[in-house]
Amino acid sequence: MLDRRTLLNTSVAAIASTLPALKAEAKGLDFDLEPRGTTGVFERLPRLDLESELGFYTSYRTWIRQDVFRSAARRANAIFREMGINPRENDLPIREVVKILESDPLMGYTVHARETTQQIMWAAIQDAYHADGEMYLEELERAERKGPGSLQLRADLHIPKFASYEIHLQPGGYVGDPFAGYIYYHGLNVEFGNGNYRDELQTGRADAVPLPPDGKVKRVLEQGCSAGQLTLALKKKFPDAEVWGNDIGAPMLRFAHMRSVDLGIETHYMHELCEESNFPDNHFDIVTNFLLYHEIPEQVGRDIIHESFRTLRPGGIWYPMDIYTSNPPPQSAYGKFSSWFDHRWNSEVWWLDYRKLAPDFENEMKRAGFEVVHHPTGQGSRTNIMGIKPA
Ligand SMILES: C[S@@+](CC[C@H](N)C(=O)[O-])C[C@H]1O[C@@H](n2cnc3c(N)ncnc32)[C@H](O)[C@@H]1O
Repeated sequence: MLDRRTLLNTSVAAIASTLPALKAEAKGLDFDLEPRGTTGVFERLPRLDLESELGFYTSYRTWIRQDVFRSAARRANAIFREMGINPRENDLPIREVVKILESDPLMGYTVHARETTQQIMWAAIQDAYHADGEMYLEELERAERKGPGSLQLRADLHIPKFASYEIHLQPGGYVGDPFAGYIYYHGLNVEFGNGNYRDELQTGRADAVPLPPDGKVKRVLEQGCSAGQLTLALKKKFPDAEVWGNDIGAPMLRFAHMRSVDLGIETHYMHELCEESNFPDNHFDIVTNFLLYHEIPEQVGRDIIHESFRTLRPGGIWYPMDIYTSNPPPQSAYGKFSSWFDHRWNSEVWWLDYRKLAPDFENEMKRAGFEVVHHPTGQGSRTNIMGIKPA
């Protein structure tokens, strides 16, 4: 009997020939029934109606994020100009900006539309995976007995409170739902305007990761690897290196490992805190992370800088990638308002902490011992911060 995952890994033609019982003519239909198959490098959602529902949220939210946000920014600018305050650059603290803008109906609409679609989108995905929970647990367990690559889970790992929040309203967060990996992966496709099923963003980020000055790359770590998408992209970029991802969320790592097994890519996953890792001193050539910093408290962010320094070999590089590693926090009225609404209404609990850490990020890297370089990203004049551990 073929299991669902084997079906996914077999070409449609081969499946059709091995499953004559599924031939539609046997059921009086004039087309062949096929398994749901994959989208890009990932299995499709379990149901067609769910796919359509998420498709609707994707397009609605794309419109919100683009046209509606732009209109809201214009409105915020106009309100500030009328008050004689520079809307693009001002010293007003966030709470003052919020007081001025929050009663405006367009601001309210943008916040509300994003928050409510975010909630129903997560709930729809979560319900679908829980409806067939046993099957999904079985496939996770099955993958754990297989390679390539490895997964090290620690049942006794203490989960600190800061890592237990339902960040961006994801039900159960990264640690509290056994299907968090599935939920996150599909939800991200909605958030990224239908651009997640081929690991598009992470492939671009892996391309941007620079080499250490001596060009030697034997071991690579992605911190806070979530569903393992960047970890996989890093392995593709450095096929001869041993590539690791670590994360506090066991359900995320189980999902990441299962995907790697499905794709036949050898990557390794470690259940731990980035700031208290189990890796030895001077171990990695490259340590990197993507979209981690806006989701952690300021002090944890500082601790991770020091831990990265410890685990890198002399001459190795640390390359953190998040919104403020290449751009400073926006000082515009609407920029401050959106930081607040993501924090308050999208449960980005640590976003304002990240805004506080950002101006001191480079100093903390220097205190840890890094030589700091602003590395060109290849996108116009943009650079991203990079730490080199002195050789
Ligand atoms: C937004 S996700 C990272 C996305 C991922 N890099 C990608 O490319 O899709 C943040 C991840 O960091 C993990 N995380 C947050 N704080 C952590 C910590 N202190 N140690 C380990 N993992 C942590 C969360 O569990 C979550 O999976």
